[in-house]
Amino acid sequence: MRNSQRLYFPFAEGDRTLALSLKPLRIEDWIEIDDQFSSYVQRKTELLETIHSEVFASLPNTQNAQQEVLDLLLEHLSQQFPELYDRTAETIKVKATDQTWNIDQFEPLDLAGRLVQEDFCLMRPSDRGYILAAASLCFPLRWRLLEKLGNPMIQIHQPVPNYPEQLGNPVDRLFDRLKVDRPVFRINWSIVETPELYLGHQSHSNTKSVELTPDDLWIRVERQSVRRLARSNWILFTIRTYRYPLMMLKDYPESAIGLASILQDLSPGMQLYKNLLPIREMLLTTLKQMETSC
Ligand code: HEM
Repeated sequence: MRNSQRLYFPFAEGDRTLALSLKPLRIEDWIEIDDQFSSYVQRKTELLETIHSEVFASLPNTQNAQQEVLDLLLEHLSQQFPELYDRTAETIKVKATDQTWNIDQFEPLDLAGRLVQEDFCLMRPSDRGYILAAASLCFPLRWRLLEKLGNPMIQIHQPVPNYPEQLGNPVDRLFDRLKVDRPVFRINWSIVETPELYLGHQSHSNTKSVELTPDDLWIRVERQSVRRLARSNWILFTIRTYRYPLMMLKDYPESAIGLASILQDLSPGMQLYKNLLPIREMLLTTLKQMETSC
């Protein structure tokens, strides 16, 4: 039996929404596998079968770096989770879902995405800075891969309020200076009205407050890792999506208090971007009740 899902509630630290907030990542902890593994991997398979071009895309001349990612991942899985996979020279079997993939059957990054719960974004250096060169992205949070492919960081983040002023330079510096043996991770959070993992077709600002109750809301957390690839010198960005029922915060009053205070301080632009405006009052009332009932 694998571990139940980890809890990442980044709210106790105050509003770090527009900060790098990076922590060192121990390479053994790069990939996280939990008791929802089969449902994540099966959802990925469905999406890759039905809407492949929405969830996998690559630019030309990315095969070597894609292969580097797959090689790293296969090595990592054989070291950290040997009991979960069966590997031959030509195939890899995901035992929990009984799926066997030929290693040459897909582009390397496409295969990498089918093996774990993480999504993968490969960033290539260019004269416009790092650009999104390939991705296996089954669980996007309200963005579409094809609209970002080939774009540099500043354009990818165009909808994020104040990104150019507050994050543009620090992120560029991070990418320029990142060392192969010093990977990092950060946590991003949102409140959404569904546990569905694929939110590629949802746009911002479409949450309707009507009919929604606190029981309908989910905390969606992305554990994002950033590492430099030794062979290609490109950068690999991974996104591991978690979702928790909002009402779970009842058991974590400090996080409920932290989220309420972040909501109170969040700029109107960020509230709009994060789809919080229609549900803000309801959220604050609910979180305050959790504070007083503890
Ligand atoms: C470590 C460096 C990075 C930082 C500090 C960063 C920061 C952010 C922040 C603050 C947001 C707004 C999220 C929210 O509050 O809900 C965001 C959104 C986003 N980030 Fe990043 N990011 C980083 C790396 C990347 C990379 C490498 C990609 C490559 C695919 C990426 C793709 C996106 C996308 C697609 C969005 C959503 C944009 C939209 O709404 O259209 N980020 N990022």
